[in-house]
Amino acid sequence: MHVVLREVRDGDLPLLFAFMSDPAATRMAAFTSAEPANRAMFDAHWQRIRASDTVVIRTVLADGVVVGTAGVYGPPAEREVTYWIDRAHWGRGLATAALRALLESVPERPLLARAAADNAGSVRVLQKCGFTVTGRDRGYAEARGEETDELLFRLDARP
Ligand SMILES: CC(C)(COP(=O)(O)OP(=O)(O)OC[C@H]1O[C@@H](n2cnc3c(N)ncnc32)[C@H](O)[C@@H]1OP(=O)(O)O)[C@@H](O)C(=O)NCCC(=O)NCCS
Repeated sequence: MHVVLREVRDGDLPLLFAFMSDPAATRMAAFTSAEPANRAMFDAHWQRIRASDTVVIRTVLADGVVVGTAGVYGPPAEREVTYWIDRAHWGRGLATAALRALLESVPERPLLARAAADNAGSVRVLQKCGFTVTGRDRGYAEARGEETDELLFRLDARP
């Protein structure tokens, strides 16, 4: 599949909302917004991040089809990557390809990442893209309603 990133368009939002409110996906991601199925909160959040000068947020296309998002956000010393793929397309290498494309288009380093410790797919995606584990954390995961272990990752500039 041919994976590319492009600017988010208004017409993507209904699809992105469907991907990001899917209970199986939010449970996997764990550290979501307080109400992932709340469309008004989603719209307000996306309006804010699309208008932000410091947030890089892209729609992921696979063979021209909208399949997810990838982005970078956070203050200068703690820039962090994020990505989300529609459950219908999991396990086909799309998150790995999307994160690689993001890393090529965003030169800033280091980049940080977090994943629920049991989110094996996300942990694997980060490792395939060169991120290494730097530590662990534990916090309240909204999508699970419980304290959850998290792994912290970092990608440095290539030597
Ligand atoms: C996590 C997520 C991005 C993965 O997307 P994807 O397109 O399926 O990922 P890829 O196919 O590129 O890679 C997944 C890798 O994890 C592996 N994997 C997936 N589930 C696994 C499991 N339960 N145990 C072990 N490995 C697993 C796959 O085998 C693959 O590795 P491989 O290429 O070495 O075989 C996707 O499931 C998703 O969007 N989930 C909901 C949102 C989320 O969790 N975002 C990340 C928040 S940190």
